Amino acid sequence: MGHGGNVIEELTTDHREVDELFDRIESLPAGDKQRRELADELTIELVRHSVAEEMHLYPAVRTHVENGDSLADKEISDHATVEQHLKDLEGTEADDREFDHLLATLKLEVSDHVQDEEAHLFPMLAISCPP
Ligand SMILES: [Fe+2]
Repeated sequence: MGHGGNVIEELTTDHREVDELFDRIESLPAGDKQRRELADELTIELVRHSVAEEMHLYPAVRTHVENGDSLADKEISDHATVEQHLKDLEGTEADDREFDHLLATLKLEVSDHVQDEEAHLFPMLAISCPP
């Protein structure tokens, strides 16, 4: 948080920051040590983002959105999968072959999450609940 504005705006800003970090990692050559540092930054950002969503977003979804409990449960289970992959990535050096594979898996999961929230969850919440 800390970008100003309402919860949806702040979480959307987080999503763009995460997209940018993935782009920065991918713009570096395979095995570059700086990829490891950026992956650490990405991990911090994603964990912080998940905590913010679990504290501020999902309780509002449960209260204000129709079928909110099952939507929130699905997002929380997605977070658990992402967290597991972040843990796997944590112990992997940039020149390890697993690094690129784990990063690609993570990017796919995070893009799905971002797409899902921005296309469905955020608009539903915006309609049913004031900022
Ligand atoms: Fe999110």
